[in-house]
Amino acid sequence: MKIGIGNDHVAVDYKKEIKLYIEEKYGYEVINFGTNSFERFNYPESGKAVAEAVVSGKVDKGILICGTGVGIGISANKVPGVRCVICSEPYSARLSREHNNTNVLSFGSRVIGIELAKMIVDEWLSSEYEGGRHQVRLDMIDEIEEQNKLVD
Ligand code: RB5
Repeated sequence: MKIGIGNDHVAVDYKKEIKLYIEEKYGYEVINFGTNSFERFNYPESGKAVAEAVVSGKVDKGILICGTGVGIGISANKVPGVRCVICSEPYSARLSREHNNTNVLSFGSRVIGIELAKMIVDEWLSSEYEGGRHQVRLDMIDEIEEQNKLVD
């Protein structure tokens, strides 16, 4: 399992801790698409990079961290094929996998403590998509994406 991780300048150390946590606990390869510098770094850059890596299959899943998780998560959701959950608690993380088949998880280093973030990561990584009745809704989401594709 390969995880792409991305962040902006406000989540550098936090990202490093989450990366290490996943590597040590799960033995997954965690590929960094974020910044390791405290210089201002615009979050859409790494949101896009992680999202594209997920959609292209370079990584299996993505994790994004900025101050709130919002900007970087919105950026990821602009990439067709990405379903990114922005969340601050484990319940939504789990349900977002089981019902929405999320392939990217986003949270905020200024919003939740690192231990809660690890719980969210655990819940998200260990939950599986249930399919069935949920697929109808995901197909509808894909249709919205299709209908709104830019044409030349
Ligand atoms: C950076 O100051 C901050 O805006 C960013 O980390 C994030 O919270 C945006 O959604």
